[in-house]
Amino acid sequence: MTLPSLASSLSDSVTAAAARLGLSELAPQVRRSEHADFQADGVLAAARILRRRPRDVAAEVVAALPADGLVAAAEVAGPGFVNLDLTDRALLAQLADRLAAPRLGVGTPETGVTTVIDYSQPNIAKEMHVGHLRSTIVGDALVRILEHLGGAVVRRNHIGDWGTQFGMLIQHRVEHPEPVDTTDVTTMRRLAALYRRARAKFDADPGFADRARQRVVALQAGDPQTVAAWRDIVAESTRYFTDVYDRLGVRLTDADAVGESAYNAVLPDVAADLERQGVAVTSDGALCVFFDDVRGPDGEPTPLIVRKRDGGFGYAATDLAALRQRVTELRADRLLYVVDARQALHFRMVFDTARRSGWLPPTVPAVHVAFGTVLGPDGRPFKTRAGDTVRLVDLLTEAVDRARDVVAAKNPGLTGAALDERARQVGVGAVKYADLATSRTRDYTYDPQRMLALAGNTGVYLQYAHARIRSILGRAGGAEAAVDPTAALDPAERALILDLDTFADTLTEVVAGYEPHRLCGYLYRLAQTFTTFYEHCPVLRAEAPTRGNRLALCRLTGDTLRTGLELLGIDAPDQL
Ligand code: ARG
Repeated sequence: MTLPSLASSLSDSVTAAAARLGLSELAPQVRRSEHADFQADGVLAAARILRRRPRDVAAEVVAALPADGLVAAAEVAGPGFVNLDLTDRALLAQLADRLAAPRLGVGTPETGVTTVIDYSQPNIAKEMHVGHLRSTIVGDALVRILEHLGGAVVRRNHIGDWGTQFGMLIQHRVEHPEPVDTTDVTTMRRLAALYRRARAKFDADPGFADRARQRVVALQAGDPQTVAAWRDIVAESTRYFTDVYDRLGVRLTDADAVGESAYNAVLPDVAADLERQGVAVTSDGALCVFFDDVRGPDGEPTPLIVRKRDGGFGYAATDLAALRQRVTELRADRLLYVVDARQALHFRMVFDTARRSGWLPPTVPAVHVAFGTVLGPDGRPFKTRAGDTVRLVDLLTEAVDRARDVVAAKNPGLTGAALDERARQVGVGAVKYADLATSRTRDYTYDPQRMLALAGNTGVYLQYAHARIRSILGRAGGAEAAVDPTAALDPAERALILDLDTFADTLTEVVAGYEPHRLCGYLYRLAQTFTTFYEHCPVLRAEAPTRGNRLALCRLTGDTLRTGLELLGIDAPDQL
């Protein structure tokens, strides 16, 4: 059950006051304020409609506020705002209610909503790189948050497992067979090397290029030997991806991998349907969809190509087929695509085509959850010195190695497997947090040193804040964190209760814009508010009833930090 926040209870009080005055047009607009606990801004708009002086209306509202024990002080401020301070008792009662509520009082507003989310999407026989990292991490966080809010989420790892490149890969393998040890962790490295060799040969040797093209035809025609070779290559890569997902601690399984090839059988029907409806037309031998507002630099319209001149289907056709299936068969109420911002035009065209063809009803939003580029230390897209893309696994290994140093320096007693596990939690957490904390549409610089800093807006800082709270609670020896609502509150305690109370609203905001960085910002502020509280308010040395109240604050802060980190896919160990 959702526990109403203090802001929403206050909003109800203001609405009740307005109703008593017959001001049904007043929408309270309650928000946190620098001058009081909250302020209500809605009087201004209501006074405009009533053609009355805002300060007069505000004064009437203040006088009519119900005596429900919530408001300690109310006054008119500025042009007609209402400043509102809450009673200590109401704050403490809210703290007690939130502690007692299941799931910290977070409700399940996503109940009954099915989201199909397309994320991670690595390409077969290629290394995963930082672009796939962003998609994987942002997608995983959104999945966790939507599910936590009661939603049904279908994950789709739209793996790049089809295309003409398989012709040369398979042909090269056939001509240079090598035994494959599928348990070998360097398999992917070899596969990527095979890709490079095949590509080079394809470019240099016209005879090979011809044979590779025939392989494509054989693959598409379902030639058993060719298909078997393709399957092997796909299986090797998939095993590797799964390994990376395990290391990252993301919830993607083999069952979620529905690659581009899965739609092969329905592509002709997709094309025929679009053609029949007149959405797609033949132009220059290709089946195309045109858009009024999409033109190239020469002013000529740029079409979405559904079927190429040679009869082959590409990326667009596959996405259209996937979309149609996600709406009609998976019954999606919402479609999300966590993909690089550079593919914005592609998705605009795909969504527009799907709307025109009726596959995407107006009630189903389709959102390109776009993200920016990861930059290297030189401020340019992240590449190795040799100009290659940086391998995701190398990044993770480096982050975990560095984290091991950070953790070992803090805990000289920690060794062996325990140290390794802690290093993994901190290192992977740091990588994820650095990615999630940046507004996803912005580019950011990959900087392992900053990511693993103990102070500042980092995953490690939050993990430490959480562990410190667990240690305080541990030292309290299981003493009751019982709330006594009659105690008087220190300003730092009030601030902490007010921050703790907005966790659920923050999750709603994250979903509204598919912006996990809002949760990061919230947790960071919460940790800072806690630090201020802990500096001003002794916990273990305090007397009853203050001690119990402060332990309750520690408990709720610790639980909120842990839940928040979990929703970001970051471990929150009890000790660091
Ligand atoms: N595999 C593609 C890439 O690495 C991304 C696929 C994005 N998803 C989609 N449904 N088009 O660039």
